[in-house]
Amino acid sequence: MKTAFKFSKATVLVTGGSGFIGSNFIHHVLGRKSFSGRIINLDKLTYAGNPENLSGVEKFGSRYVFVKGDICDAACVKGIFAKYKIDCVVNFAAESHVDRSIHGPAEFINTNINGTFCLLEAAREFWKDNPATRFHHVSTDEVYGSLGPKGKFKETTPYDPRSPYSSSKASSDHLVSAYAHTYGLQTTISNCSNNYGPRQFPEKLLPLMILNAQDGKNLPVYGDGLNVRDWLYVDDHCDAIRLILEKGVPGQTYNVGGGCEKKNIALVRELCAALEKLAPSAKNAALGGRKYLDLIIHVPDRPGHDRRYAIDFSKIKRELGWQPSHNFKEGLLATVEWYLSNTGWIANIKSGSYRKWLEKNYSNR
Ligand code: NAD
Ligand code: TYD
Repeated sequence: MKTAFKFSKATVLVTGGSGFIGSNFIHHVLGRKSFSGRIINLDKLTYAGNPENLSGVEKFGSRYVFVKGDICDAACVKGIFAKYKIDCVVNFAAESHVDRSIHGPAEFINTNINGTFCLLEAAREFWKDNPATRFHHVSTDEVYGSLGPKGKFKETTPYDPRSPYSSSKASSDHLVSAYAHTYGLQTTISNCSNNYGPRQFPEKLLPLMILNAQDGKNLPVYGDGLNVRDWLYVDDHCDAIRLILEKGVPGQTYNVGGGCEKKNIALVRELCAALEKLAPSAKNAALGGRKYLDLIIHVPDRPGHDRRYAIDFSKIKRELGWQPSHNFKEGLLATVEWYLSNTGWIANIKSGSYRKWLEKNYSNR
């Protein structure tokens, strides 16, 4: 007999679960009493994937399984579907950084497009027309392009991606929608704004600035610093994805935003103030008497830099009852505190691929 999909009891294939948002999602879901299912984390462990992000999950025993592998590897993905009887996919795995997509787009096309295609094909083959299944695809607001000074992205905003990263994400979103429309796959998509919080790889704005500030290095703001991003605390994002899996309607897209627009320069100044509060510059020898604010410099702009993103999240609020619960000030302090107290995590990243990549691409900083 066909039954309805129940996330709380599902065997969930989380892809990219060792990255920033994926690992926060795994902690979020396994930590909830209402979830009695199982999580299989498929991650290639690229430079952005970090097994340390999942320390603590051992306590869930066989309810958490790690598989090192590539979402582009069809045999690997099909093997996982067959072995674990997957009935839900949450697809986080991606190359996720715009700057890297400018330096080298090939890996973005492969992982973000071909990888999503490979997952969709496995789901189509194994699930047939079983309604008790769900394929959730995690995407970005960047697929909608760039806003002028007014307005917000809605689910109905036409796609207009402008970087290799956002184009590859847009392609994958279209593939997911096509599989829902053509094959009746039970899919949902979320398009969210810029996430921040613990365990974010320090190439993205906030953690890069935190680490540089601690080391007394420049804080490089691109261009005039007036580009606007809408900041979403990562645990609020995880909450939204879980709600979509529990109550969302197959075939639908949900926009998830923080309701928190900031100009980059204002954000970096707020970060400097948070650092002064939690780790005063006067006590940090690396600054040599300077304040954190003194480290801010303007550097040449990112090519094709989108000016403004802002999300209208009224649909998910109205239909699923979600809204962000962290205000930015608290979220920022919690994030800075996490980076200040997880020095081992930072040291391991600095001694590995991050340092090599920084040296290659940002030797002028
Ligand atoms: P991340 O770069 O921190 O992590 C990506 C993870 O995917 C890593 O663990 C990496 O090892 C893994 N991965 C990469 N290629 C893989 C492959 N071929 N096979 C298996 N695993 C692979 O990314 P994130 O910031 O956690 O983003 C997660 C998702 O959310 C992405 O799809 C991204 O596009 C989307 N998103 C992120 C943000 C943000 O602010 N970080 C905003 C909107 C949307
Ligand atoms: P980023 O964290 O790379 O996310 P995205 O490009 O997906 O929005 O960047 C956030 C904003 O900060 C973006 O407008 C670019 C800007 N930025 C800087 O000004 N300096 C930096 O060193 C970085 C990494 C980003």
